[in-house]
Amino acid sequence: MDERRGRLTRDGIRIYDTADFEGMRVAGRVAATILDDIAPHVTVGQSTAEIDRIITEMVTASGSVSATIGYKGYRHASCISVNHVVCHGIPGDKVLKDGDILNIDVTVIVDGWYGDTSRMYLAGTISRKSERLVQVTHDALMKGIEAARPGATFGDIGAAIQTYVEAARMSVVRDFCGHGLGRVFHAPPNVLHYGRPGTGPVLEEGMFFTIEPMVNLGRPETKVLADDWTAVTRDKSLSAQFEHSVGITADGVEIFTLSPAGRFHPTWG
Ligand code: MF3
Ligand code: CO
Ligand code: CO
Repeated sequence: MDERRGRLTRDGIRIYDTADFEGMRVAGRVAATILDDIAPHVTVGQSTAEIDRIITEMVTASGSVSATIGYKGYRHASCISVNHVVCHGIPGDKVLKDGDILNIDVTVIVDGWYGDTSRMYLAGTISRKSERLVQVTHDALMKGIEAARPGATFGDIGAAIQTYVEAARMSVVRDFCGHGLGRVFHAPPNVLHYGRPGTGPVLEEGMFFTIEPMVNLGRPETKVLADDWTAVTRDKSLSAQFEHSVGITADGVEIFTLSPAGRFHPTWG
């Protein structure tokens, strides 16, 4: 449960103190380091269960706690979403094959602070259209982050992402959104990845939240499979996602989950 830190805005969004940024930096760095270190293990022939097993070990070795194991009955330290899986893919027997694109999403708790981040990985040699989807999704996240500063609105963030994605003739998923976080995993507000400039709550210094756009090559509609977790594109088109945890500073935004190894984008490093 959240602690009685800072204050809540009219929209129920918690405002954290300057000192609280350090807790988020540490948690964000642990999560991002795990995503850095898993990269060499994402290879053709590898199962997603094995990737998750290694992530579970890395979480333990880091001295942090997985936020997802036990969360609403979820049993894994990561979500691994391959190809047309939009998000919340459950690690399992599925073996990566040449040309697959996948998102790995890890959330850890360090001293009570949540670090939540995800990025795309490429198995083997991928097609030009997959590469373009991954690039546009990454750049859309960064456009959203660039729109975040005190006085801007959450609608400004959503609009920046949507405009960018639709100009590339791809679509933004509406069924899942980013979220406030801090001493809790999911808190107000819902951070929509679409919208109109000037709408929604106003951003203030001390807000902590994620931005995590999911972008489809085809239509935006999704459905959740019978396992109650795995979300896929209804039209079976490819989907990609990147996620950062951020905090609003006096004059801009701080990204808590930057890659220490400079590997946030799969073709870097
Ligand atoms: N990390 C995901 C997010 O970005 C949530 C995963 S919840 C789980 O909010 F239970 F599916 F792991
Ligand atoms: Co998240
Ligand atoms: Co996440």
